[in-house]
Amino acid sequence: MSNFSSIRHLIRGMTDAVAGDTHDEPRLMERARPLLADLISSDDWLPDEFAQPHPEHYQQYLLYCDPHERFSVVSFVWGPGQRTPIHDHTVWGLIGMLRGAEVCEGFELAGEGSPPRATGTVRLEAGGIEAVSPRIGDIHRVSNAFDDRASISIHVYGANIGGVRRHVFDPLTGAAKEFISGYASPNMPNFWDRSRA
Ligand SMILES: [Fe+2]
Repeated sequence: MSNFSSIRHLIRGMTDAVAGDTHDEPRLMERARPLLADLISSDDWLPDEFAQPHPEHYQQYLLYCDPHERFSVVSFVWGPGQRTPIHDHTVWGLIGMLRGAEVCEGFELAGEGSPPRATGTVRLEAGGIEAVSPRIGDIHRVSNAFDDRASISIHVYGANIGGVRRHVFDPLTGAAKEFISGYASPNMPNFWDRSRA
């Protein structure tokens, strides 16, 4: 039986938090971190439908979106060896490792025509949390740490991340290209059926 109490608790907590000042990014990230830490401390709740890797590329499933699109929660599912391009977010985000591990390489732009400069690499293990935002460093490349199994992280963002206009960056020239990620599935999970508790 899945335990949905932690995801419901996170959704309630973030709904309360954004009802205050949506633009107070440090406060929202501070509020989100313990809720996400609690959520990823057990791996008994993510429905299988939202944990499915794709053979060719990573998957981003929407788990919840605030009605005013002030925050969203997604599962990010990595097939063996998969990785993102170098990209930004343009909004705050927390990345919590649920299953497996991933490698986050940070970058900063180095000017027109120059490759983005590496700023450091972090390996995120299950239970670990990383943060991104334009304020603290927003550009990175993320890879599944494993070549032989899937990894899954749960992300909380300060917007409907699948609808945000953002950028990928060429690793050789730093040239930016706009993208809107969308989501891997038209479905969202139902965490609200109390008869299952
Ligand atoms: Fe990212």
